[in-house]
Amino acid sequence: MTDGLNRLASKVAIVTGGASGIGAETVRLFANEGAKVLIADMNEEGGRALADELGDAVAFQKVDVTLEQDVVDAVAEATDRFGSLDIMFNNAGFGGALGPIDTTSVEDFDITFDVLVKGVFLGIKHAAIAMKPQGSGSIINTASVAGLQAGYSPHLYSVAKAAVIHLTKTVALELGEHGIRVNAICPGIIATPLAAGHPKTTDEQLGKLKKALGKGQVLGRIGDPSDIAYAALWLAGDESTFVTGHAQVVDGGAHAGRKWSKQGDWITAERPIKMYRPEGR
Ligand SMILES: NC(=O)c1ccc[n+]([C@@H]2O[C@H](COP(=O)([O-])OP(=O)(O)OC[C@H]3O[C@@H](n4cnc5c(N)ncnc54)[C@H](O)[C@@H]3O)[C@@H](O)[C@H]2O)c1
Repeated sequence: MTDGLNRLASKVAIVTGGASGIGAETVRLFANEGAKVLIADMNEEGGRALADELGDAVAFQKVDVTLEQDVVDAVAEATDRFGSLDIMFNNAGFGGALGPIDTTSVEDFDITFDVLVKGVFLGIKHAAIAMKPQGSGSIINTASVAGLQAGYSPHLYSVAKAAVIHLTKTVALELGEHGIRVNAICPGIIATPLAAGHPKTTDEQLGKLKKALGKGQVLGRIGDPSDIAYAALWLAGDESTFVTGHAQVVDGGAHAGRKWSKQGDWITAERPIKMYRPEGR
């Protein structure tokens, strides 16, 4: 990472899920751009290690985003330690329940929605309480292209991410009147432990994942956490102050449709043009 341009100078951020993957890369980028950052994650080992590595501008707090008191405490810690809360990145997540609908239990449903929807709701709620009096703030929620189109992910994950996109929009309309912007990011497939299916995924395993899945992508690669971190940086900073209620797709073209070379010969083959032309033209 090259030296930042202080695009987040004097801003304070909370990054949920900041101990790993997209969140960890965002913590690094935000700190490099001059922000003070609180990592809010259940993963104490990873979160503390990252905070220790990045120095006094970054702290860790153990937080389960499904528990309201944990989220309240995280907001209090950020404002007490660093003086304000300007950026709330509601990013913590997991893959949720897998498998066919007829074997999905109510417990699977509840835990999936608790983390992916209730966790985002609580982050928005308590960020809003801190941000309203100051009349400014940027709230960013990690959704997914799975929330825009079926067939990318398991049932409940897709539906939960669709809910995050809609919650982003409904709340943006309310909080805009208080100077607070609310946006979502919809990543495509990103090389993180979540995508690899295990929280302790090694760099070598991530390399294999990138190689296996990259070829089928429009741009010839899957995403890196930094692809999402840079989108979060833009939405967090003052270069996007006219943007709210937006679901920013960052997916290497996946949501646009099928890669050209996979669209079938009848579309891609070169043929002489036989076009109907009105008489005399
Ligand atoms: N990786 C992808 O392909 C991809 C694609 C689209 C969306 N996303 C979304 O991006 C976000 C980040 O995922 P990632 O890919 O970086 O995965 P990751 O597994 O690397 O990181 C997720 C982090 O969230 C934390 N977390 C999980 N449940 C939590 C809870 N209840 N409270 C606090 N922290 C919790 C984990 O400890 C972990 O540090 C998630 O919301 C995920 O759904 C990922």
